[in-house]
Amino acid sequence: MTATDGRGRFITLEGGEGAGKTTLSRSLAAWLAQQGVPVLRTREPGGAPGAEAIRSVLLEQGPWDPIAEAMLHFAARREHLVRTITPALEAGIWVVCDRFADSTWAYQGGGQGLPRDAWDRLAGLALDGVAPDLTLVLDLPPDRGMERALGRGDANRYERQGSDFHTRVRDAFLAIAAAEPGRCAVLDAAAAPGAVLDAARRAVSDRLSAP
Ligand code: TYD
Repeated sequence: MTATDGRGRFITLEGGEGAGKTTLSRSLAAWLAQQGVPVLRTREPGGAPGAEAIRSVLLEQGPWDPIAEAMLHFAARREHLVRTITPALEAGIWVVCDRFADSTWAYQGGGQGLPRDAWDRLAGLALDGVAPDLTLVLDLPPDRGMERALGRGDANRYERQGSDFHTRVRDAFLAIAAAEPGRCAVLDAAAAPGAVLDAARRAVSDRLSAP
């Protein structure tokens, strides 16, 4: 891997609750920075002022109709993309983003029954063709993930869902990875944090070597 020339690279981290995305985001960004790559860490829902405002509505209020909920996620994402992600990529900065559009398909589609056609239309409008260069899917049996997530204290609206919901979310992430193997790499999130970072570094080196 070489330091970036021209446009940055867009890396997203996806997975269910307690999969270790935040830990990996920190360690992966630190490793990229050590290679001399300019890097920005961000997360969804949020990552821009308007998107952070929508985040608190999404995590603390509801229930929502699934389409309305997906629209709120995509509204936040659009702000995030336009104000934070795209300017960074254009400035040659690599973006490491904790959750992106695949989370809306996994949670609102897999978890809550949002029709695929609704996701496609919202994604078409909000993303305008932008897609991650690489998506790392952190895979973990839902019971283990929930044990970790609930151990952290206050559960949000999504974490309070039952294990059937979290199983559907996991299956949806794995289906995305199977459908788009060129973009997605599945990492075993039950492994130790150092091993997860090693696997992530291998995926980045193998797939994003030539800017
Ligand atoms: P957060 O506390 O950031 O959880 P995590 O550390 O697991 O990412 O809360 C974000 C929650 O929002 C998470 O439970 C998943 C949910 N979510 C969706 O349902 N749809 C989406 O499109 C996104 C981005 C997140």
